[in-house]
Amino acid sequence: MRRVFSGIQPSGELHLGNYLGAVRNWVDMQNEYDCFFCIVDYHAITQDYEAAKLHPRTLDMAVSLLAAGIDPERAVLFVQSHVLEHTELAWVFTTVTPIGELERMTQFKDKSRRQESVLAGLLNYPVLQAADVLLYKAQMVPVGEDQVQHIELMREIARKWNARYGEGFFPEPQPAITHARRIIGLDGQAKMSKSLDNTIGINESAESIWQHLRPAVTDPARVKKSDPGTPEKCNIYSLHQHFSPEEMIQEVAEKCRTAGWGCLDCKKVLGEKIAATFAPFRERAAELRADPETVFEILRDGADRARAVAEETMREVRERMGFMPADQYARR
Ligand code: TRP
Repeated sequence: MRRVFSGIQPSGELHLGNYLGAVRNWVDMQNEYDCFFCIVDYHAITQDYEAAKLHPRTLDMAVSLLAAGIDPERAVLFVQSHVLEHTELAWVFTTVTPIGELERMTQFKDKSRRQESVLAGLLNYPVLQAADVLLYKAQMVPVGEDQVQHIELMREIARKWNARYGEGFFPEPQPAITHARRIIGLDGQAKMSKSLDNTIGINESAESIWQHLRPAVTDPARVKKSDPGTPEKCNIYSLHQHFSPEEMIQEVAEKCRTAGWGCLDCKKVLGEKIAATFAPFRERAAELRADPETVFEILRDGADRARAVAEETMREVRERMGFMPADQYARR
């Protein structure tokens, strides 16, 4: 079975953007592949964060992922910092990664532009990401299209390491993108993110979903209800494509072009579809929150299963790189 690895930062509750952009895909992949899904807390500390919130957000993310359909019987779900080999391999990889490649990364350029002093951790973010995936020798990485550049760099890191220490040892992972288009936020502008408050959480009630949808930006050319709209220019229409059945999508387009429906009518229908999709998630999340011990046990078991693979990879990596074996010469 082909192996899949993906990661998500512990930003707390999952939202519509994460769900459509990545997690829905993860849930589908569990049936076909050997999946490892990781809550990447070491990545989260590369930008300003509140230490007191890291732990509860990590737990919330685990609850959200389980509620959205990640099944611990079929996939390994774990927290990055619980498997020490991630940071160990990341260090090794810094020694085969050209700084120029890291400085070229779009995400690094965007994030560092907003900062007065740029930290090495931010620069090395993609090196840690390469370690995440390659530690498990995963071949496929389901991500949003903004991560494709990081995966290309990961392939280069694998090639460089292999060239020096063992041809064919690390596979070159492929990105797996099904929902290629970016999920635009309800502001009609930026990528959906919790910090921009332009999204909907997967555990929100129908009322709260409506509160977010009602003011959402639609086709800017459509000012009055009687103005005909252009569905292709409307973000609500693009969200319909993710939640509504084919006939509904056609009806929505038709009613928009002919001004048969106002934008609010269209949003109402979308809101119902989103609420219906998220209702079971909300229910499962409430159950899990009432029983945190079950979640801890899932994460403990996930870390054990991940560690078993990670330890084996690192043992071989150290051996190929010529390190003095700790199990013979030291107490670990
Ligand atoms: N950088 C990814 C993101 O922001 C998160 C991530 C970290 C990741 N490690 C990973 C994704 C490994 C895929 C594989 O979405």
